[in-house]
Amino acid sequence: MIPSPISSSQTQSERLQALYHMAVELSALHSLQSVLNTALRHCLDLTESQFGFVGLNTADGRALDVVAMQGFFAESEFYEHNHIIPLRPSIFARAVLENRPVSTDDARYDPSRFGQPKGHPPVAAFLGVPLRIRDKPIGMIGVANRPQPYEDDHEQLLLTYAAQVAIVIRNVQLYEQLTTAKEALEEKVAKRTAQLEVAREDLAQKAMLLQQLLSETVDVQESERQRISQDMHDGINQLLVGAMLELRSAQKRLANGRIEPANESLASVRGILHRVEAEIKRIIHDLRPPTLDALGLVPALRRYAERFTQYTNIPCTVTVFGEPCRLASRAEIGVYRLMQEALQNVSTHADATRTEVVAAFSPRTFKLTIIDDGQGFDLLEAEQNKNGRLGLLGMKERAQSLGGHLTIWTQPEQGTRVELIVPVTEPL
Ligand SMILES: Nc1ncnc2c1ncn2[C@@H]1O[C@H](COP(=O)(O)OP(=O)(O)OP(=O)(O)O)[C@@H](O)[C@H]1O
Ligand SMILES: [Mg+2]
Repeated sequence: MIPSPISSSQTQSERLQALYHMAVELSALHSLQSVLNTALRHCLDLTESQFGFVGLNTADGRALDVVAMQGFFAESEFYEHNHIIPLRPSIFARAVLENRPVSTDDARYDPSRFGQPKGHPPVAAFLGVPLRIRDKPIGMIGVANRPQPYEDDHEQLLLTYAAQVAIVIRNVQLYEQLTTAKEALEEKVAKRTAQLEVAREDLAQKAMLLQQLLSETVDVQESERQRISQDMHDGINQLLVGAMLELRSAQKRLANGRIEPANESLASVRGILHRVEAEIKRIIHDLRPPTLDALGLVPALRRYAERFTQYTNIPCTVTVFGEPCRLASRAEIGVYRLMQEALQNVSTHADATRTEVVAAFSPRTFKLTIIDDGQGFDLLEAEQNKNGRLGLLGMKERAQSLGGHLTIWTQPEQGTRVELIVPVTEPL
């Protein structure tokens, strides 16, 4: 329902009804701009005014920001330049400063006039009322150019309606703030959810890698056991079978009274058993080199290098830098095993003429380097296509389990350099 202008012929109850309808129309609106535009239209209708404005206090409280204007066409440039009205005691701002209705029959001759912006139609009759929240002005409504001067009735009506408008403005502002906060919150939740999703995927990826590592570790252990059993089968088992056969033949020779050949068989058995003993010692030594526990890392490395040279005919030198110290027991055995694995690779793959082991002690770290002058290899290729080969992987795992890291430099025809760095901790 379009409210009709309030005329002096209207009864009090008709005016109240008109005001009520305006308030209902206003409170159904949700955007601030439509509230301001509708409220201003109502005010012009209520007071039979030609044009008017709604101004709201700026955040610093020093000016009015004209947020709605009606009754004359203003270029956007005009609006850009003039929408801020300083809060000074001019006829157009006193309603806020004095927190009461202010009117004049002709603004052009008002003593508190500060002039009008260029391009604004001349203002004659003017009525301004404050917009108040809990008695404090938050802005004002100004109406102008009623053909006749504004009367007390208009002042009262506009003031009453302005009270409604102020409440609706505040509610809509709060609603807009709430909506903005809600949107910001939703955006944050969406962002956080996305981050969590990434973290979840990351975790799943890590779990998968861990699983892979675990199964590879099991493979490494399995292959180590296989190597030991192969060693025992190839070495000790063959020797024991040989010893059994010799014993049987000694038995037969004795039964036939052939003492001399029987003695020869027994001597051969003794020889075989000596070799069994040596082989068992070698395996025990490999499992847990006694030199390592008794004398420490450097003598154990030297001992192994000597044996390596002996068995492979590849000269292997050991150089030590720094002041040798005991490492934690598991670090010493780990370092030793790593050297074994690296030298094993030198003997099987490198085709090297010499190899060198460098042990460097410093207060915080221990560095072991194994260098050969062999044919080198394509590291990336070897790492990507493992094909059941576990040596390099085992070395990396060992390094990690000791809190250190392993680096390999190699190029075809350029030899290979394996470097292990582990932190030095108190021996356990
Ligand atoms: N010092 C080296 N010189 C030349 N090639 C090497 C050297 N070390 C490793 N390689 C190459 O890298 C590959 C992978 O080595 P890795 O020790 O992982 O496996 P492997 O020795 O073949 O088998 P495994 O150690 O499981 O018995 C080797 O097959 C070899 O081609
Ligand atoms: Mg190997």
